[in-house]
Order: sequence, then C-alpha cells, then structure tokens
Amino acid sequence: MANNDSRVTIHMAASLDGFIARNDGRVDWLETSDEFIAGESLDASHVEAFLKTIDCYVMGSRTYETALNFEARGLGWSYGEKPTFVLTSRNLPRTRDTVEFYSGDLSQFVNERLRYAFGSIWVVGGGTVCGEFLRLGLADEVRYSILPVLIGDGIPFFEKLGRDVALHLAEVNAYKSGIVELRYELQGNRSESPNSTDKVDQAEPNTAV
Ligand SMILES: NC(=O)c1ccc[n+]([C@@H]2O[C@H](COP(=O)([O-])OP(=O)(O)OC[C@H]3O[C@@H](n4cnc5c(N)ncnc54)[C@H](OP(=O)(O)O)[C@@H]3O)[C@@H](O)[C@H]2O)c1
Repeated sequence: MANNDSRVTIHMAASLDGFIARNDGRVDWLETSDEFIAGESLDASHVEAFLKTIDCYVMGSRTYETALNFEARGLGWSYGEKPTFVLTSRNLPRTRDTVEFYSGDLSQFVNERLRYAFGSIWVVGGGTVCGEFLRLGLADEVRYSILPVLIGDGIPFFEKLGRDVALHLAEVNAYKSGIVELRYELQGNRSESPNSTDKVDQAEPNTAV
C-alpha cells in the first residue's frame, strides 16, 4: 500500500534550451563560469544538509552508465550511501551494495514498493525515465535547474509526453552561479488537462531549497 506522505521529485539540470545532455551523452556544459551578483550562494553545509533529506534515488540505465563513467574517471559517486534504483532490462555492472536494478511495472514499483519504504524519492534522470514518470502520473514535483548556457541540440528534459501536464510554480531561486531553480508541483491528480497551458497560478513566496 502506498505511503501518502511520500513525495516523488523529478530533478535535473538543463540548458536554457531544455537539454540535459548532448546527443552523444556529454554533460561538459554543466560547468559554467557565469556570475549573477544578486543571486544566493550555496554553501557546502547547506547542500549537505539538503541531500540528507533525500531517502533514495531512481534513475534510468543510461544515467547510471554516465554515473559509472564519472566514477571511473575519479569524479566520485553523486548518490552517497542512499539506496539507488536503476531501471533497466539489461545486466549492468553493480559496483556497490546500494544499487538495485529493476525492470517491470513502474507504477507498481513506485506506489507499492518505493512509496511504502521511502519518504523522499528523487528521480534523477534521464529524459526517458522522467517522461515515463510524468506520463504515468507518478511524480509530485519537478525541480528544474536552468543553467546559463544554450547548447542547440541534445537529449530533452522530458521525452515526448503526448499530453499536457498542469503545473503549479511553487518556488523560484536564483544563484550566484547564474543557475535558476524552478520548483513546480503537479496539480490535482496529475491527469490529462487539455487547456493546462492557458492556466496561470499565483506563485507562493520563495523559500530556500
Ligand atoms: N543534466 C542532468 O541533470 C542529467 C541528469 C540525468 C541524466 N543526464 C544525462 O541524460 C542522458 C541519459 O538520459 P536518457 O533519457 O538517454 O536515458 P535514461 O532515462 O537515463 O535511461 C533510459 C533507459 O532506462 C531503461 N528504462 C527506462 N524505463 C524503464 C522501465 N520502466 N523498466 C526498465 N528499464 C527502463 C531503459 O534501458 P535498458 O535498455 O537498460 O532497459 C532505457 O533505455 C545521459 O547522457 C546522462 O548523462 C543528465
């Protein structure tokens, strides 16, 4: 049975033109040198405290392969000791005990397993998996970090959804690095809403991430 207090968050960083990686998977453009003087600074202790609030991660196999590649290049593992669920139909290398592979009914997995066991569930990509979560109505919020760069082409934030998804803008934060983070909540039962793009909701006052 699903835990109604659980929260499924989709979080990714994207270029201003909406891409999460180049077509060949590179994310070199995530390093930018912009400075927005009026922006908030993110100190390491704040980030560390925030990461502690996340209970588990979910990702697609291609994102996992990118994470393994980062690790092999000495760039570390971004998901700490938190349980990390990788969606795949393939036999992929498992480099740590915290990683578990899943293939099957995604709604059942999220609602009957993850929501039951975890409060804060973070879906960290890629576009294919985030698209699936939205299509199936499995996400409660979307956090979109926009980087100050245009890359022209690449893998989109969401694979084609085939329908509108109504969102409520809940939080906006701009950082010294030039990154803007938008937090949207999924409206109502996250079901189809043909006129959703015409709808504008009043934003809540900002609260820190
Ligand atoms: N900018 C960012 O914040 C960010 C974040 C994350 C990722 N990325 C980048 O995005 C790229 C990857 O994104 P992507 O959209 O190409 O791929 P992805 O979403 O990471 O992975 C898609 C793969 O996951 C598996 N999968 C998906 N749904 C499944 C299900 N219900 N059951 C079983 N397996 C399932 C399938 O692989 P199998 O063939 O293994 O079954 C599918 O091909 C990488 O380049 C990564 O670096 C960027």
